[in-house]
Amino acid sequence: MKDDRLATTASAPGKIILFGEHAVVYGRPAIAVPVFQVHAEATIEPRADERVEIDAADIARRYELRAAPPDDPIATLIERTCAQLGVAPRGFTAHIRSTIPVARGLGSGAAVSVAIARALGKFFATEDTGNTENKRLRDLAPSAAGLSIGDISALAYEVEKLHHGTPSGIDNTVIAYEQPVYFVRDQPIESFRVARPFLIAIADTGVASPTKIAVSDVRRAWESDRARYEALFDQIGAIARDARAAIERGDVDALGPLMNANQARLREIGVSSPEIETLVDAALRAGARGAKLSGAGRGGNVIALVDEANREAIERALIEAGAARVIVTRVE
Ligand code: MEV
Repeated sequence: MKDDRLATTASAPGKIILFGEHAVVYGRPAIAVPVFQVHAEATIEPRADERVEIDAADIARRYELRAAPPDDPIATLIERTCAQLGVAPRGFTAHIRSTIPVARGLGSGAAVSVAIARALGKFFATEDTGNTENKRLRDLAPSAAGLSIGDISALAYEVEKLHHGTPSGIDNTVIAYEQPVYFVRDQPIESFRVARPFLIAIADTGVASPTKIAVSDVRRAWESDRARYEALFDQIGAIARDARAAIERGDVDALGPLMNANQARLREIGVSSPEIETLVDAALRAGARGAKLSGAGRGGNVIALVDEANREAIERALIEAGAARVIVTRVE
């Protein structure tokens, strides 16, 4: 039989958490935005045999789906996405590439999952080329090709659980929806209006910090002193609420002090690090209006509120202070 299937490619952005990391795991609100300067990309390529091969070139791994260990995140995502699409996983190679540094709080794992699910959705929508509905789906946005955005987010969430046990769901949500989100665990997703765009510099400490470890350390600390940690989480939740209101009314000036206040609480929670503090200090000394860690902490990325006039000076200061790289993203 002629194989009518076409290779399909899809991508997904990275993300940063502006406010509320860690507390969001405990039901407080957090704000996250997509970062389009980095992305993960998946290509599903048909093959003549029945095998499914995973080609993760960035980590120099090429392996067969059936040989993958049960907790392999990519294999799990492929199996669950195919189950959701009602198809058997067979006869393709999944090529995965990513420019999102791993374990730096930029959502690399969730972005890889979302990109693969999108590419598979498109791939299976091309299978029966005699079917006009499939053709129509194929031509729609990737999220519509057999899977809704909610489906894709839910599939990525299942894999996030393999990465770190008790994820809040914020990473897969902001990456699948590709828009700023005000996220509260187990609540319907809320987007919000950015009344005045603002610039965020994202500076990599160069230190890889797996989310799983930071999140489980915080859980242990919370278990040993619930009253103190609940109070800190409440304060962080209040900061995230205030930040949303400031963003909605275009009060960018209010955001810097809120970032600093959030960073002070993250320090108390125990997820800052000398590298993070060095970059936070450098950004503030060079004129940033606020700075904090973003993501799980202990390493990963620092974010700083900059403007057109001072962004270059701040970028330079961050590099001089040891940042492995700096990107500037516009939140709008
Ligand atoms: C990770 O990007 C953010 C954390 O709050 C964990 C989570 O929300 O699942 C640290």
